[in-house]
Amino acid sequence: MAVIEISLAAARQSGPLQKRDWCTALEAGAILYFPHSPVRLRAEDIAFLLGQQQADSSLHKNIAYKPAADVLSGLDASASDSATATRLRSVMRGYSEAAATFVESFLEPYEGCLQRDYASFRPQEEQNRNLPVRKRNDLLHTDAFPTRPTGGARILRFFNNIHPERTRDWVVGEPFKKLVRQFAPAAIAPRPDTAVSRTAKGLARAVGLSAALPSVKRTPYDDFMMRFHNYLKENDSFQKDAPTERLRFPAGSSWMVFTDTVPHAVLAGQYALEQTFLVSRAAQVAPEHAPLTVLEELAGTALV
Ligand code: SIN
Ligand code: FE
Repeated sequence: MAVIEISLAAARQSGPLQKRDWCTALEAGAILYFPHSPVRLRAEDIAFLLGQQQADSSLHKNIAYKPAADVLSGLDASASDSATATRLRSVMRGYSEAAATFVESFLEPYEGCLQRDYASFRPQEEQNRNLPVRKRNDLLHTDAFPTRPTGGARILRFFNNIHPERTRDWVVGEPFKKLVRQFAPAAIAPRPDTAVSRTAKGLARAVGLSAALPSVKRTPYDDFMMRFHNYLKENDSFQKDAPTERLRFPAGSSWMVFTDTVPHAVLAGQYALEQTFLVSRAAQVAPEHAPLTVLEELAGTALV
């Protein structure tokens, strides 16, 4: 797993060729790591965020900020009109805008094509959280959003560890391209039937079944990505045996990564901010690494 360390000076002053190289490295599966975050909140805003865990039990979950509507979600109804919620929304708006301003200029080749998705505030201790298996983030997985299919766009996430002292501890796994060859047939098998065709046609046929799934309308691509996310989290032997590498992101650091192809899990840490972006196929500088490309090659057919 490539982790590329970038100083504040390099983050702020790099030229167009360097910026393109960073996009290429990211799309190929690197993590860009900033020991000193280029996106810093005001001290009083950080103090406010760190105070939430004690102050208000309704803020114990991950809180999402939706920039298009300028609203928070994940708050209990009782908290959603409070002064705390108003302040939190304003801090999250500021973070989301600052993260977008930085990332748009740092990853200049994506200019005008980065779609700013939700931001999140993660105030909970990640170790030993009691969540249903598909929502657990301490299990190795690639990202897919149950309610927001991307239609083939890639998922880029920018994180800030705002804990005053502690690291945020991740593990990352082997590349999507490798995992998908190993596990795709099983991931799309209608369980409990395990006799699965390993041919490309089998993948194509199986993701073609997506129309039969209820609720959110997903493309065959999105259907596969959601199934793959669930399959990895629910696969005990994969969780136990997959080769992983441990990364510890220090207090005050940032990192960015395409989480749709870099398998990741957070094992410990508390208080992070995160901004998600969607990168369309047209904007990618190395579309051969996109999960859509990899899956369409495997399936031998268009998936969006
Ligand atoms: C995730 O995307 O799985 C969570 C990562 C984190 O909160 O550090
Ligand atoms: Fe994730």
